[in-house]
Amino acid sequence: MATITVRNLDGKTKQALRERAARNGHSMEEEARLLLNAGSILDHENQTFSGSVDALKVVDEASNVSVDPNYPARGKTVLLIICGGIAAYKSLDLIRRLKERCVKVRVVMTHAAGEFITPLSVGALSHSKVYGELFNREDEQDIGHIRLAREADLIVVAPATANIMAKISHGIADDLASAVLLASNGKVLIAPAMNPVMWNNPATRRNADTLEGDGFRIIGPNSGEMAEQSEAGRGRMAEPMEIVSEIGRILDTRAKPLLGLKVIVTAGPTHEPIDPVRYIANRSSGKQGYAIASALSAAGAQVNLVSGPVNLNEPEGLNCIRVESAEEMFQAVKSSLPADIVIMVAAVADWRVINSADEKIKKKPGSRNPVSLKLAENPDILKFVGHLDQRPELVIGFAAETQNVIKNAKAKLKRKGADWIVANDVSPETGIMGGDNNKVKLLSSDGVEQWPVLAKDQVARRLVEKIISYFEAAVIDV
Ligand code: C5P
Repeated sequence: MATITVRNLDGKTKQALRERAARNGHSMEEEARLLLNAGSILDHENQTFSGSVDALKVVDEASNVSVDPNYPARGKTVLLIICGGIAAYKSLDLIRRLKERCVKVRVVMTHAAGEFITPLSVGALSHSKVYGELFNREDEQDIGHIRLAREADLIVVAPATANIMAKISHGIADDLASAVLLASNGKVLIAPAMNPVMWNNPATRRNADTLEGDGFRIIGPNSGEMAEQSEAGRGRMAEPMEIVSEIGRILDTRAKPLLGLKVIVTAGPTHEPIDPVRYIANRSSGKQGYAIASALSAAGAQVNLVSGPVNLNEPEGLNCIRVESAEEMFQAVKSSLPADIVIMVAAVADWRVINSADEKIKKKPGSRNPVSLKLAENPDILKFVGHLDQRPELVIGFAAETQNVIKNAKAKLKRKGADWIVANDVSPETGIMGGDNNKVKLLSSDGVEQWPVLAKDQVARRLVEKIISYFEAAVIDV
C-alpha cells in the first residue's frame, strides 16, 4: 500500500497538487487520493502523474487522524441538516472531513443556522447548493423535500437543537429541515448540542427517548465546557471525527467476520524514564501494531489499541489508549481485559530504571564517577496474559530477534503461553525496525509458516485472515 503524507510532500509537488485541487474544486487530500487511486504517483516536474500504487493513505493535516482509504461511507450521500446553535461552526469541519473521505454531502440549513454560519461557506465546503426554504419554487417544483430525503443514504442532524428534536418526535413539519425528516423513512443520525439544562429538561429527555424508540440514532452530546461563560455539563455536540466514525459504522455494509469479538493490541516502544527529560527507548515505530489494529477493526472486531509513544495518527474507528512506560502499558492491558484475542506487538522495554530522578540529573564537574542507573525487570505483559485463568481464546506474541530467530521464537511460544508467535529478524540491515515492510514467520503448534516480504499493512491483513479462519474453524468444532 502506498502512503503519502501531504504535509511531507516537497514544496513544488505540494504547490502543483494545490493548484490542481483548486482547479478541480477539491481539497488537496481529495485530489491526491483521486490521482493515486487512478494508479498514479505525484511528479511535480511535468505535472503528470505516473507509476502504480494500490491504495493511498493520506494524512489529514488538520485532524491528525489518518484518512482511511476504505472508509465505509466512501461514495455514499449524506444529507446534513444544520440547525441553529453555536456548535454549527463544527459542522463546517464535519463537511470537510466527509468530503476528504469522498462522501457526497448535501446540506439543509435552518433559518436559525444562518445566524451562526453562512450558506456561502457551507456551499463552498460541500461543493453543492445549500437548501433552506420549504416553499422555494425552483426546488419544490418536483417536491424537492421528498427528493432530498430519498436521495440520501443517511441524514445527519448536526447540531440538533432541542427544538428540532421536539419537532421530529412530534411529527411537526413547518420548515424544510423538519419536512425532510418527516418525509424520510431512511436512517437518521442526530448529534444534539444544547445547554445542559435544556438537555436535562424532562421534555427533551422524553423527546430523546421517543426518537431512540423510533429508530433514530443519537450521538452525544458530550460533557464539558459550554460556549456560555462558566457553564459546564452534558450538552456539547460530539466532535466532527466522532460523527465521521459513527457515519462510517452506520453505512458499513462490508462483511464483519470478527463482529462481537473484543481484541487488545499493544504497539510501539515504551519509554522508561531516567529523569524528567531523559528515557530509555527502542527503535520500534508502532507501524505493524497499528496496521494490525486497523485490519482487525475493519473486520468488525472491537479493538483496544494500547500504544506506546509513536509518531503515528490514531486509526479511525477504534479505541486508542496512549501510554508511556511498560508499567502503564501493563495497567492499560489489565483494565482492557477480558478479551477474546490479545496481540502483543509492542516492543516493551525489558527493564525500567528504579532510581529515576525527580529532577534533571546534572553532570558533576571533576567527578570521575559516572551516573549509574539501577534497572529492574519490567512485568512481562504477554506472559501474564498467556497464563491467565480466564485466558483470551487466542494469544499472539511477536518475537523481534537479531539471531536464531526460529529457536528463540519457539522458546518464547512455550515460555509466554502464547498460541502463535510472529517472528522476524530485525537486524539493522533488514530495515524492518521503523520501515514499511516486514518479513515474518508464523509459529504455532502446527509448525512454522514462512511469509514473503510484505508491506506491514499486508502482513496485518494476512494475520487477520488467519485469525478469521481460526475462529471459523472453532465454530465448526463446536
Ligand atoms: O521477551 P521478548 O521481549 O522478546 O518478547 C516479545 C513479546 O513479548 C512481544 O509480543 C512483546 O510485545 C511481549 N512482551 C511483553 N511484555 C514485556 C516484554 C515483551 O508483553 N515486558
